[in-house]
Amino acid sequence: MFDKVAKLAGIFSEALRDAALFLRFNSYSPFVDKSRRAFYKIIIEAHTIEKGLSLPSPKPLFGKDKVRFVMRALSRYDIGHSPVPAHMSLGALEAYLAFHAQAGASDPLLDEISGYLKQWETRLPRPWQGGTRDYRFDGQPAGDLQHLIAGRSSVRTLSPAPLEPARILEAIALAQQAPSQCNRQATRVHTYQDPARIQALLALQGGSRGFADTVGNLFVVSSDICAWGGPGQRNQAYVDGALFAMCLLLACRALGWGACPLNLAIDHKTESAIRRVGGIPAGERLILMIAFGEPAAPQTRVAFSPRRPAAEIATLHA
Ligand SMILES: Cc1cc2nc3c(=O)[nH]c(=O)nc-3n(C[C@H](O)[C@H](O)[C@H](O)COP(=O)(O)O)c2cc1C
Repeated sequence: MFDKVAKLAGIFSEALRDAALFLRFNSYSPFVDKSRRAFYKIIIEAHTIEKGLSLPSPKPLFGKDKVRFVMRALSRYDIGHSPVPAHMSLGALEAYLAFHAQAGASDPLLDEISGYLKQWETRLPRPWQGGTRDYRFDGQPAGDLQHLIAGRSSVRTLSPAPLEPARILEAIALAQQAPSQCNRQATRVHTYQDPARIQALLALQGGSRGFADTVGNLFVVSSDICAWGGPGQRNQAYVDGALFAMCLLLACRALGWGACPLNLAIDHKTESAIRRVGGIPAGERLILMIAFGEPAAPQTRVAFSPRRPAAEIATLHA
């Protein structure tokens, strides 16, 4: 009985701490660095322009307010923080102009954009990575992806040898193909190869008992809380973070490594301890860990982990 009451009280106190953490670090918080907040704000608004241009029939002169907002916000933004919002904005504005030129439209706003882009040419040389790009469905071997997804398994027999940092970055870059809300890319990946630090982190996680000592490479996936703001977004860190983590697991498999996701179903006390040991900033929410590395042997044994028949989890609505 006491145990149940303690669990219920724990749910309330953890929820309060969730709210406190979100309030302290979310995108409206005055306690978060201005450049970091502006980074996300500009990306979100620039995305509405590129998204508008990717629709089947964009409306002429759509999103005038957004366009003006992006220009104003980018002018105040310090690109030393990251050039990504500038690339996205300038590329989107350039594509906006190209779309209207093709449609033969004229408007003072288009002249304004044109002048604005000229000012930026020297600050951030072209090509600007933003706007829209051509995309093809043919020529992509879909079967490869099917095999990759069907062939992934949690592997708990890993070689502890540290992997080349350049290859780890390759895996992370692949995982960056994960979609993220408004392309805000708030997910962070912390990588560890120091055996003592890995053991300290795994001891706090607890789910790698029986194979922790074979882990020589460890990711901790987290999300920058200041990418998210307002009550509706309080859990979005986990959505984007989990999609990224799935891509990272597939990327590990694609590079020939074994990988095992490790839950971070933990309370705030443990989350803080992991942040401390891992050198992770206080404004990041932890999503999960991933143990990874070369397979200990080319052939190994994995848990069967059968899946339910698809019809059991699917509801095909009329
Ligand atoms: C969020 C998450 C947390 C997990 N945590 C652990 C863990 O702590 N320890 C572990 O050995 N496996 C962990 N797993 C692996 C699951 O047991 C495994 O994904 C599941 O049984 C399906 O098997 P498969 O990954 O081989 O397809 C975790 C998986 C997920 C998605």
